[in-house]
Amino acid sequence: MSDASGSRELRARRSCHAVPGSNPRFLEKAQGLDSDQVFLDLEDSVAPLAKPDARKNIVEVLNTGDWGKRVRTVRVNDWTTQWTYRDVIEVVEGAGANLDCIMLPKVQTAEQVVSLDVLLTQIETTMGYEVGRIGIEAQIENALGLINVDAIATASQRVEAIIFGPADFMASINMKSLVVGEQPPGYDVGDAYHYILMRILMAARAHDKQAIDGPYLQIRDLEGFKRVAGRSAALGFDGKWTLHPDQIAVANEVYSPLQSDYDHAENILDAYEHFTSERGGKTGAVMLGDEMIDEASRKMALVISAKGRAAAMERTDVWKAPEE
Ligand code: GLV
Ligand code: MG
Repeated sequence: MSDASGSRELRARRSCHAVPGSNPRFLEKAQGLDSDQVFLDLEDSVAPLAKPDARKNIVEVLNTGDWGKRVRTVRVNDWTTQWTYRDVIEVVEGAGANLDCIMLPKVQTAEQVVSLDVLLTQIETTMGYEVGRIGIEAQIENALGLINVDAIATASQRVEAIIFGPADFMASINMKSLVVGEQPPGYDVGDAYHYILMRILMAARAHDKQAIDGPYLQIRDLEGFKRVAGRSAALGFDGKWTLHPDQIAVANEVYSPLQSDYDHAENILDAYEHFTSERGGKTGAVMLGDEMIDEASRKMALVISAKGRAAAMERTDVWKAPEE
């Protein structure tokens, strides 16, 4: 839900675990996993004829399952199919009180986000739910979506996250590769995904949204998962999809700050707060040990601190103000 400035609360999304809505065993099992988010899928992991039953399964497990603090998301089908409206109506009418976000795949225009927003508002009003509580996660999976990513990010106050969908994206731009997440053979002068990742990250940061990296399909290759996740984490992404339970712990680690960075960030915030206050002498540039810190250091520290707090990290080394 948004505060007075229109920003929505920052939810932990280091690991966003995908669960096909057509598989009751996986839906049950996902409740015991340590992912920050689950998304129950009605789209590409569910065959067309299985979609009606998958909607029912999802409503049932949202209402009766124990999801703890996980962010509960349902991925509906995209607006170019005939399934979207029924996905949204059945799931939100049936389990809207136990649902945090709808994920909209293959978003191409801001209007597609607005359409979902309007439908959600009508359902929330009819059902007596709090209007605007359910968020939207927008998947960018083709060239048009990427070109329109700023308008998509700002199309509705409900938008919380922008997600890169590498498999569909690779197909949509005719990339000559079938291995999702890895570099296309023949391209050896850089990272073929750099522009796409940075474009999504810029839109997310400019508009105060989270940036989420998509799936890595070689589920037995944890080293590969760690390497690819490490790249988007280094750029500033907030999390990544996980398709197999073994990927979850890796994602939680890769997208959390290092303990030493988290301690350092909290100490910068404390020292800066102290030295810029009446009590500490009201200066602008201050020292933390041998390090000079200023307003820009404070902003960098805020980012690491927010990620650490969202991951429920605890401080292990607390700075103390000098005796006055
Ligand atoms: C995810 O939806 C992808 O297409 O990679
Ligand atoms: Mg996709």
